[in-house]
Amino acid sequence: MKFKLILFVILGLVLLGGCGGGSSSSSTSAEENATKNDAEPIKLNTFDLENKVVTLNNGVKMPILGIGTYALSDSQAENSVYWALKAGFRLIDTAKIYGNESGVGRGIKRAVDEGIVTRSEIFVTTKMWTSDYSNGEAAIETSLNNLGLDYIDLMILHHSQPSNDAVAYKSLENALNEGKLRAVGLSNYYEPEDFDRLVNSTAIRPAILQNETHPYHQSSEMKNHISKYGTVLESWYPLGGRGHTQELFNNSVISSIAETHNKSSAQIILRWHLQAGNIAIPGSSNEQHIFEDYDIWDFSLSDNEMTQIAELEKDTRFSTY
Ligand SMILES: NC(=O)c1ccc[n+]([C@@H]2O[C@H](COP(=O)([O-])OP(=O)(O)OC[C@H]3O[C@@H](n4cnc5c(N)ncnc54)[C@H](OP(=O)(O)O)[C@@H]3O)[C@@H](O)[C@H]2O)c1
Repeated sequence: MKFKLILFVILGLVLLGGCGGGSSSSSTSAEENATKNDAEPIKLNTFDLENKVVTLNNGVKMPILGIGTYALSDSQAENSVYWALKAGFRLIDTAKIYGNESGVGRGIKRAVDEGIVTRSEIFVTTKMWTSDYSNGEAAIETSLNNLGLDYIDLMILHHSQPSNDAVAYKSLENALNEGKLRAVGLSNYYEPEDFDRLVNSTAIRPAILQNETHPYHQSSEMKNHISKYGTVLESWYPLGGRGHTQELFNNSVISSIAETHNKSSAQIILRWHLQAGNIAIPGSSNEQHIFEDYDIWDFSLSDNEMTQIAELEKDTRFSTY
């Protein structure tokens, strides 16, 4: 009888604890969850379109619309980042391999010096390149120096590389613990098994997974899979990527929805990403496009329009990597 009573009390305590575990309002439980790869699924990644942020699985808030800088020269990146911050963007995406981290840093400094933003209001992402995986610590220092920052908000591994990506990820975890990074994540993991391989050999759940994602490659399987870790999907090539944007912009479903809302096809696609739960980081070196890409908060797509775009899925990637 006494044994049954103790068992009952323990069961009650476990159940009570479980109720609080998935709450998005508790950043402590989010942080705890972020380090327990075998814990129960957590659902923290609800997009807050009003405040334009999503809460990551470690409790950090990340803007859901950012400026991408792939293929931009150092000086183009400086201008794009500066214009983007002026337009309202608060998320910036770069990578060491783009060769423009210094330009990104200068664009940030210009905006901060002019009082457009403060450092703490913006969220800077960079990526560790595959050839640096065995020297992760040095690569993180190089990116910090290039950017001219004393911390980076999010650093991700640029590609899956089973031979040493877990070692590289551990260097990210160490930098996170030292306060040099605020969140860590992955890019270019396209198979659930590959994602799990990395997750199961490291301690901290990836906050985001950045993969090629657009209406012709919607990443539904991966998005569903990573949600059990509270990991958010971030779309690269959100508009199809350079050389492919017109295929999406001229799609009759997208252009007719654009006409209905008196918006451009680019704006419809970006709004679709956010309503579908994808962080989007459109790249541009054109000031007018940058302002246009940020002007997507004053309308929303109906359920029917979201379904029409969901039906455009072709499982086709534009990139080969
Ligand atoms: N993790 C990875 O492996 C990986 C790979 C690729 C990219 N990325 C990241 O994801 C970001 C986005 O990808 P992306 O830049 O390659 O492709 P994207 O954003 O899909 O497309 C960029 C193209 O869209 C055009 N564009 C942007 N806004 C437009 C608008 N409002 N109207 C018309 N055209 C517009 C740009 O031209 P203009 O310059 O003329 O505006 C550019 O040609 C990158 O910049 C990078 O930060 C990551």
